[in-house]
Amino acid sequence: MNEIQKFEKERINNVLSNSKDKNLLESSKEFMLETIRTTYSYNFLWMGRPIIQYPQDIVAMQEIIWEVKPDLIIETGIAHGGSLIFSASMLALLEACGEIEKGEVLGIDIDIRAHNKEAIEAHPMSKKITMFEGSSIDDEMIARVHEFAKRGKTILVCLDSNHTHAHVLAELRAYANLASVGSYCITFDTIVEDLPQNSFDNRPWGKGNNPKTAVWEFLKENDKFAIDKEVENKILITVAPDGYLKRTK
Ligand SMILES: C[S@@+](CC[C@H](N)C(=O)[O-])C[C@H]1O[C@@H](n2cnc3c(N)ncnc32)[C@H](O)[C@@H]1O
Repeated sequence: MNEIQKFEKERINNVLSNSKDKNLLESSKEFMLETIRTTYSYNFLWMGRPIIQYPQDIVAMQEIIWEVKPDLIIETGIAHGGSLIFSASMLALLEACGEIEKGEVLGIDIDIRAHNKEAIEAHPMSKKITMFEGSSIDDEMIARVHEFAKRGKTILVCLDSNHTHAHVLAELRAYANLASVGSYCITFDTIVEDLPQNSFDNRPWGKGNNPKTAVWEFLKENDKFAIDKEVENKILITVAPDGYLKRTK
């Protein structure tokens, strides 16, 4: 075994032992509870744009993008555009390294605020980004996205819009199959199921009605995807437990 293989083995063993460490799991859970309460996910920028994600999920996304090497990333839920800019910047890196020829990102949002649209369009990464405005689960929008997806050879899908069970299940049914074999349909905010009932008083989602319950139902009817537990075992802090869905066939 050479030094590189030795370190890889050490890394895999470390992830496994971390994922079984009761104290660590307890502190991760406590950290999630406290940081959801304090809207910690609003604290970050990617290349100057607010990205509503936890740093650990952003790193996990980076690892997935490097592994999958998509040339098209489809995202529902744009908000301030940080996640679109992140995806576009990763595709620009893949291009610069010669890993893909040309990469692009499609974002869908029901309400692209004028100031966000303007800032995204003025960003150096904007040439890789296309935005569609409308509900991600409208038939017309689903058809538009499928038409656009014909441009991609290897596709990664990220769902981060309305977090109710019905909406996410409809998105999974509409878009998950666009993810290429070996790629992912990442479903964010599955953490809602693991939080106390009163955590989202002003939201239509909560325990029993959220992205995780949608993922569970979707997996009963679609055998092409499996939850990649290794991602959450590795990062421990995540808004997407059971949300990293890998397309296996
Ligand atoms: C959590 S934010 C997205 C955050 C973004 N992905 C990021 O990481 O920075 C959720 C977004 O979903 C959008 N949204 C809500 N309902 C939607 C729907 N039916 N279709 C598409 N987008 C929707 C909201 O307008 C909001 O901008």
